[in-house]
Amino acid sequence: MTSYKELGLVNTREMFKKAVAGGYAIPAFNFNTLEQMQAIVQAAVETKSPVIMQVSKGARNYANGTILRYMAQGAVEYAKELGCENPQIVLHLDHGDSFELCKDCIDNGFSSVMFDGSALPYEENIRITKQVVEYAHAHDVTVEAELGVLAGVEDEVQAEESHYTKPEEVIDFATRSGCDSLAISIGTSHGAYKFTPEQCTRDPKTGKLVPPPLAFDILHEIEKKLPGFPIVLHGSSSVPQDEVDTINAHGGKLPDAVGIPEEQLREASKSAVCKINIDSDSRLAMTAAIRKHFDEKPGDFDPRQYLKPARENMKKMYIHKIVEVLGSNDKL
Ligand code: G3H
Ligand code: 13P
Ligand code: ZN
Repeated sequence: MTSYKELGLVNTREMFKKAVAGGYAIPAFNFNTLEQMQAIVQAAVETKSPVIMQVSKGARNYANGTILRYMAQGAVEYAKELGCENPQIVLHLDHGDSFELCKDCIDNGFSSVMFDGSALPYEENIRITKQVVEYAHAHDVTVEAELGVLAGVEDEVQAEESHYTKPEEVIDFATRSGCDSLAISIGTSHGAYKFTPEQCTRDPKTGKLVPPPLAFDILHEIEKKLPGFPIVLHGSSSVPQDEVDTINAHGGKLPDAVGIPEEQLREASKSAVCKINIDSDSRLAMTAAIRKHFDEKPGDFDPRQYLKPARENMKKMYIHKIVEVLGSNDKL
């Protein structure tokens, strides 16, 4: 058993309380590689932001759970080395799909876990979330749960409302499961293709796709039902058009990739939404820099030559999110 406290990590409890009260959101960046970890820590230290470093089941399979855990410990030490006296870093399991996986993470240094039972029947979701909560709380680990199913790109947004979180369920769900935060579905979705072109309108000036707005009415109803309760948004990458254009200009093929407009995330950050998940934007920033590098310098083959600009580009993106979108800067 390795407690996250031995690694210098923190759980989300205080962080979320301050974020909800302060009208900002904590960035939750997914990581799988050294360069992502370095960029996240550099960005968080330079902006004086708390940060959630999150690991999916796929990331654990790719990079190895033990390595990722020590990377998180390394992140804390690295932040101190960069001059941050009191880094606030959470190691979080993203989309845990079983009690056993959540327990394994808690036993191995995670300070926060998500049990994602959103695809399960309601009672089953509550039952397993509660089981995770009981084990997690015994170790002072916080638990994110999910209610409502995130949209898939194939769904019709208008017919999507049945998948949105039902505000009338949230009090019962949060009370009976005991979760510390709740991920909700209000129109975001995972990946770089969040909406089909048919679901969007086109900006007549630029010809770019303009996605439909998030369901802020549902968010506000949920806030009224659970005042001050921490709410989480998954699938919140903005899919920056300049990165998509760079990728496509250098041999990539990402036609009609579209994300959540930043002004909507800015608005959400001011509400009870206190954790915003971003993965795809990091993937795009990394890929754009690497593709450009190879196009311009086809003779390079030392990974440091192309991973360095990739790391710089991700760091720039993380800083932008923290300062210009989520507002979590200067909170340490
Ligand atoms: O929500 C999913 C995250 O973007 C992680 O994706 O399962 O491919 O690591 P992944
Ligand atoms: P994006 O694919 O929009 O980055 O969402 C990431 C996410 O929700 C991770 O849990
Ligand atoms: Zn997610």
